[in-house]
Amino acid sequence: MTIAPPDRERTAERLLRTSAKHSYDPLTEIDWEAPLVEGRPFAPPHRSSLYGTALWEELGEERRIELTRHETASVASVGVWFECLLIRVLMRHIYDQDPTTKHVQYALTEIGDETRHSVMFARMIDKFGCPAYGPDRVARLLGRSVVLVLRQISGFAGALFVEEILDALQREAMADETLQPLSRQVSRIHVVEEARHIRYAKQELARQWTAAGPFARAYHRLVLGGAVYLATTRLVHPGVYAAVGLDPRRARRVAARNPHYRETLAWAAGKVVAELGELGMIKGPGRRLWRRAGLLPQADLRGSDPLV
Ligand SMILES: [Fe+2]
Ligand SMILES: [Fe+2]
Repeated sequence: MTIAPPDRERTAERLLRTSAKHSYDPLTEIDWEAPLVEGRPFAPPHRSSLYGTALWEELGEERRIELTRHETASVASVGVWFECLLIRVLMRHIYDQDPTTKHVQYALTEIGDETRHSVMFARMIDKFGCPAYGPDRVARLLGRSVVLVLRQISGFAGALFVEEILDALQREAMADETLQPLSRQVSRIHVVEEARHIRYAKQELARQWTAAGPFARAYHRLVLGGAVYLATTRLVHPGVYAAVGLDPRRARRVAARNPHYRETLAWAAGKVVAELGELGMIKGPGRRLWRRAGLLPQADLRGSDPLV
């Protein structure tokens, strides 16, 4: 059993105090009976995977709003998948540690937050009248083994990645008064509680990364690249395109090449790319996967890259 270092304990103690003050029960906090508002998008339209393409022009106003409804449901259902994986990473992290430490108690508190978030996302999907798209079959299968290879460093870095991209998207959504109130409320609760998770993951990651040797670092860089690629390319399930009457295979291809959508992903990941890049985690063969996921700045494609 390891003894928790004092700084780790101080952070956890602070996070536990904030959790006691600012935790939400989405079941009572959100008015689930309120009807959806006619004509309002479910996410900012300029964040849609098809925004700015010829297909987007073809869709017309009503089907564009429908697309934001299904895309938001898809991201939320993938969010539930991420949260399931994160809970497993956290459980493994604390399995052998002393439960009287604040560090372990905060991890348990975070697991509690995530279970409430998953119920919240599930209810929102239901309220939207959408299926729980989730990740595709390949990702679901890889997800099973990803928990086995995402150990400690890459587990926390992967969690940080997902938490930061959702944070960017949801901060924008919660402030946008033109959106469905339900989208905004769910975003707000998630943003407030995830801020603590981000702090916890960041500190734990930095601590473990500093202590890691070159072999472990190379391993985690590669595994992280795979996890990041998988997470980024699975946010929007092709079924959302079929739901608005588009050919899912064609629309998926268009979305994958859509410069506006790539910009959205790069924007959402901007902060975490800078942070992990600074730590030296985006290097080596794993870096290619970051690039393929469209997450590195344009300058990188021309070979002048400050992170290498
Ligand atoms: Fe969450
Ligand atoms: Fe979280």
